[in-house]
Amino acid sequence: EAAAADARQNGSPSFSNMKVYGLQEENWEKAALSIVVVGASGDLAKKKIFPSLFALYYENMLPQNFKVYGYARSKMNDEEFRDLIAGSLTCRLNDAGDCGKKMDEFLERCFYQAGQYASEDDFAALDKRMADGESEQSCADRMFYLSIPPNIFTTVAACASKAASSKCGWTRMIVEKPFGKDSESFQELSAALYEHLREDQIYRIDHYLGKELIENLTVLRFANLVFEPLWSRQYIRNVQVIFSENFGTEGRGGYFDQYGIVRDVIQNHLLQILALFAMEQPASLDAEDIRNEKVKVLKSMGQVRLEDMVLGQYRSRTTRGTTLPGYLDDDTVPPNSITPTFAACSVFINNARWDGVPFLLKAGKALANKAAEIRVQFRHVPGNLYRNKLGLDLDKATNELVIRVQPNEGIYLKVNNKVPGLGLRIDTTRLDLTYKSKYQATLPDAYERLILDCINGDRRLFIRNDELEVAWEKFTPVLKEIEDRGVQPELYPYGSRGPVGAHYLAAKHGVRWG
Ligand code: NDP
Ligand code: BG6
Repeated sequence: EAAAADARQNGSPSFSNMKVYGLQEENWEKAALSIVVVGASGDLAKKKIFPSLFALYYENMLPQNFKVYGYARSKMNDEEFRDLIAGSLTCRLNDAGDCGKKMDEFLERCFYQAGQYASEDDFAALDKRMADGESEQSCADRMFYLSIPPNIFTTVAACASKAASSKCGWTRMIVEKPFGKDSESFQELSAALYEHLREDQIYRIDHYLGKELIENLTVLRFANLVFEPLWSRQYIRNVQVIFSENFGTEGRGGYFDQYGIVRDVIQNHLLQILALFAMEQPASLDAEDIRNEKVKVLKSMGQVRLEDMVLGQYRSRTTRGTTLPGYLDDDTVPPNSITPTFAACSVFINNARWDGVPFLLKAGKALANKAAEIRVQFRHVPGNLYRNKLGLDLDKATNELVIRVQPNEGIYLKVNNKVPGLGLRIDTTRLDLTYKSKYQATLPDAYERLILDCINGDRRLFIRNDELEVAWEKFTPVLKEIEDRGVQPELYPYGSRGPVGAHYLAAKHGVRWG
């Protein structure tokens, strides 16, 4: 108790947060945790995982007795490993001006173990190393983050679970995407993982679920009276889920070409958003209740069809003497690739709430801007008294709710409002909740939230096997058709708004992209 009080005084663990996340105060003192990042020499580990672990450490969100182990084939000693990750740690949080000191403390808890992915002996060596580091504790939990190419997920799960799982605490594995390429490969991967792990040990990550505004989606819907009654075909004309990046596949073309934008972004990130947006209210906030509702709504979704889809690929563009490279200019992409870097599709959810409402999903690389947002366009006001006074195109003057996932996170509602002054002039303006003007706090990175949730055993924001099963069922036939028929993507210039076809697709449903 004295130690706990001491820790509290030193600002060590943020107990109130710990409670929210389910780690009890009394357990926190005893908890020992070894975190293994498999594929520690890779891009994601450097870009996201180590910075997130450091941010959690800085915020006192990790158990007191934690250690981080990098594991990969590359040869490095602990010092070289620390140098490698030190460069990627940032002082996003530095309220007390002690970031440099905290970084050094964090790095002292980081170790590196070189090994092959298919070698049980090498994982046994890691196990020994962890056991040495854990020896002062009564019992240590182990979390593995598989930040490796998908073809070795199973091999690593097998070796790690046999040779390096916790002897007395829990063992959990975060598995990165892509989780399969179609229904068949998904089933194979899933069955292979189940040979070594139970469902409650597998944390399939979709980092979009860890984004602040996506987590807020259920709060917005179910903790406010004003939205839920409008959340149906009766008042909503269409829903758009949009993802765009203003850069190409730079450096990841090799991976991307095997998957394409539909598998890379739409089948997972955008579909997950759609599920949270459209599901019925869950019985509770329990992970299983939420995921049950997500599965149900995905099952009610119609098949994605080729005639409701537009595919595109970016080509090079020269602007003011600078040439922006096309997808095919990427050395890691095969010269005649027809892999789409842009796709838009319309889908319908065939249930009582959503019957007839088009959901438009759009994702593209090398477009004009970087954005991820949900746009909800409402119907016209029936018998609008101001019909002739708006002085506006009534089609544009309907209400629209926009959830801006990134950048410049926020939520705004477009409303028609009288322009102040004598006379009657109405224009469309915004009720605006822009996070940076409302909230002081810096938003945590999605990976921080998700890693913390895994440590605390909270699976709400991770994907259950049957969710993915349905997601693949909806997309596999159309992906197969695209590949069998060799459908040519429509070319669009780097930095543009994407292929014109996307506008025709929206127009087919009487929709204008927001
Ligand atoms: P990398 O290609 O950087 O691979 C990670 C590590 O795995 C490498 O450092 C390498 O380590 C090892 N590795 C690479 N290729 C092979 C291979 N063919 N066989 C065996 N080992 C290999 O991947 P990322 O870090 O980019 O991604 C990791 C995972 O995260 C992937 O599943 C990816 O799809 C997913 N992901 C990545 C994102 C990103 O932005 N990078 C975003 C979202 C998901 P060594 O040679 O030292 O063993
Ligand atoms: C990844 C995709 O899952 O998400 C990438 O593989 C994409 O292609 C990335 O760039 C986008 O994530 P974020 O968080 O930067 O929007």
